[in-house]
Amino acid sequence: MRILFLGDVMGRAGRAAVTAHLSQLRQDWRLDFVVVNGENATSGMGLSTDHAKLLLDAGADVVTLGDHAFDQKDMLGFIEKEPRIIRPLNYSKAAPGAGARVFTAPGGRKVLVAQVLGQVFMKRPFDDPFSALDATLRQYPMGGQVQASLIDVHCEATSEKMAMGHFCDGRASIVVGTHTHIPTADAMILPGGTAYLSDAGMCGDYNSVIGMEKTEPLRRFITGMPKARFTPATESATLSGLYVETDDRTGKATRVEMIRQGGRLAQAGPT
Ligand SMILES: [Fe+2]
Ligand SMILES: [Fe+2]
Repeated sequence: MRILFLGDVMGRAGRAAVTAHLSQLRQDWRLDFVVVNGENATSGMGLSTDHAKLLLDAGADVVTLGDHAFDQKDMLGFIEKEPRIIRPLNYSKAAPGAGARVFTAPGGRKVLVAQVLGQVFMKRPFDDPFSALDATLRQYPMGGQVQASLIDVHCEATSEKMAMGHFCDGRASIVVGTHTHIPTADAMILPGGTAYLSDAGMCGDYNSVIGMEKTEPLRRFITGMPKARFTPATESATLSGLYVETDDRTGKATRVEMIRQGGRLAQAGPT
């Protein structure tokens, strides 16, 4: 299967890049399945119903969230109606929606998508992501009833993401990090056959501080004093993420490539 994952869509610039380019990428790269992280698509804070629909209409098969899952309050209701939106498994026991679900790709092939939140350096304490994910991976073993599986690991610390990659090695097709908005350069296939990248980066304007217009973040770093609100940067966005090919029989990854399309970042993609 050819699977594309795109990291945190950041504000209007990120949404515009996804709507402008994703359907063409689906064709050009003959993608079977696309997962997009949408936790910052609405003004950098959460995902509204309208913007969730926009990302799904633009070509996302599944939209994942993160610590900002419910910043837009309408998501609390919408996630119960729209099964293609996945919030973190360990967000809260009272959270609506699901943290893992099996979807159908072309040809009736089944794809598990799950998301977990890390515990290191996160603003709120979340439940243990390892035990949460362990239960899901036991339920849907690779090479069994699902042909492929993708785990979005939403963490601040690269150490926690790497540990999660090794924890899932041979048990999931893809483990990809989100949340820091800056892509890492460690795309690889782990020894057990799991495609791994510590962070997908964001789909946003990189002439910014992690997607926010740079003036106010710079002021806060330099003076220690807030003066204005953070607003997403508005120049053209780079679509950032991971392209993976998997073996339908085993679920293992056979190829992994970093994706950086459009905007300011040096370009990369499968050729
Ligand atoms: Fe994010
Ligand atoms: Fe986040």
